[in-house]
Amino acid sequence: MSFNQRTLLTWVALSAASLLAGCERPPIEAVQNGFRGTGMVQVYNPRIVAKDIPNHVVPEAVPPAAPGGPAASRVYQNVKVLGDLSVGEFSRTMVAMTAWVAPEQGCTYCHNPQNFASDEIYTKVVARKMLQMTQKINADYKSHVVETGVTCYTCHRGNNIPKDVWFTAKPEARSDGLIGDRAGQNTVSIAGAYSSLPEDPFTPYLLGAQDIRINGETALPTGNRHSIKQAEWTYSLMSHMSTSLGVNCTYCHNSRSFASWETSPPQRVTAWYGIRMVRDINNEFMTPLTSVFPAHRLGPTGDVGKANCLTCHQGAYKPLYGKSMLKDYPAMVSAVVPEQASAMKVASK
Ligand code: HEC
Ligand code: HEC
Ligand code: HEC
Ligand code: HEC
Repeated sequence: MSFNQRTLLTWVALSAASLLAGCERPPIEAVQNGFRGTGMVQVYNPRIVAKDIPNHVVPEAVPPAAPGGPAASRVYQNVKVLGDLSVGEFSRTMVAMTAWVAPEQGCTYCHNPQNFASDEIYTKVVARKMLQMTQKINADYKSHVVETGVTCYTCHRGNNIPKDVWFTAKPEARSDGLIGDRAGQNTVSIAGAYSSLPEDPFTPYLLGAQDIRINGETALPTGNRHSIKQAEWTYSLMSHMSTSLGVNCTYCHNSRSFASWETSPPQRVTAWYGIRMVRDINNEFMTPLTSVFPAHRLGPTGDVGKANCLTCHQGAYKPLYGKSMLKDYPAMVSAVVPEQASAMKVASK
């Protein structure tokens, strides 16, 4: 064997080793979720799943409050959302919120300890809006969260800012040297599962309400916005949805026809409502908070951090594997926010 042949062989062996380093060691488990022969199978690496389980465990509930006692609105000065709770349940909710959002900082993350009624710290103003958002998700989006629902913990998991939030990408200069306009793609896209798909499918689809489609409805491109461009944004969003839930495309689609609802599993319908819910979270609750946040919390275009599928799911097909925390925290489920109730009373007078 000549020196060159040996070098070549070594090179081949090394490249093969480095290519395979990205592969996962068998055995891999496959779970069928559609008719036989349709390839509707979820592929799991049991070792990765086992390692991930501790990330989806519900924390122990705060001990129950003593029953009875006056309503919080009669005792405190500045309660706009939780006024109907008993004082005991109100304090219990404060303890839980502290553990979910600011376990290291404690009450003073949101409060001036000299004056708990004051709204001077921005985090308290944000937290009040988050309470309304959580209640709205649990009351109006049962089409997605069913009776399982969400609490602050679903997104925050003990962090001030949830681990996965997104910002609108900064628009690029029209020309990027020799390559020209990248049009927001062709680099490693974390949203698009490390592909070269568009990096920010969230602005058009989870803030805006553009059509998530690839198939045009007419033969000619006149007025038909379902071009290759739309297909690329759609695939990027779909990759995000798959990775957020830790599933394959066939969890929601029969790949024989991605567009067909008749042959899609019911999870696709849940996901459809989820997309609408996330748009609502971002437009009704997050964006209006923009001016409340300090500059260092905002993104490159001055926008607020927003939610996507990963914010709640964090890699699980259901957040916290579908375990509900709601029965322990009535403050998270109030169907009508007292503020709205009094506004409705005024309106009906
Ligand atoms: C993540 C932010 C946050 C944390 C942490 C927090 N609170 Fe609150 N707190 C609020 C919000 C928001 C309100 C107003 C609720 C409303 O409008 O219904 C509030 C209101 C109160 C009030 C009523 C004050 C008044 O007179 O209006 C008291 C008392 C209170 N909190 C005590 C506590 C205690 C004690 C802790 C720590 C165990 C705590 N809070 C931790 C956000 C927080
Ligand atoms: C759907 C997910 C979601 C839920 C549920 C949720 N939050 Fe948030 N929260 C967010 C996002 C996204 C941000 C980040 C905004 C940013 O960084 O600009 C945030 C930010 C905050 C902040 C600001 C922290 C800081 O340091 O700037 C507070 C306080 C907060 N949330 C409290 C709460 C409380 C209290 C609850 C429950 C009543 C709650 N959140 C429920 C998504 C959520
Ligand atoms: C969690 C469920 C879910 C997963 C996982 C998922 N999709 Fe989707 N997909 C949907 C929903 C819901 C829609 C329709 C969105 C709408 O209309 O708002 C859709 C739409 C599409 C469309 C557009 C069809 C049309 O009408 O033009 C394509 C293509 C598609 N998905 C491909 C994929 C691919 C490829 C994957 C895997 C990378 C994937 N999807 C993973 C739920 C899912
Ligand atoms: C506010 C938190 C939250 C966000 C954000 C969220 N989900 Fe969910 N999702 C849930 C909860 C809670 C459940 C569990 C409902 C249940 O117990 O059946 C769920 C369930 C689902 C299911 C049903 C799984 C099954 O096997 O039945 C699908 C599919 C799904 N979500 C897709 C999505 C997609 C896609 C997005 C982003 C567009 C998204 N979710 C965003 C909270 C959320």
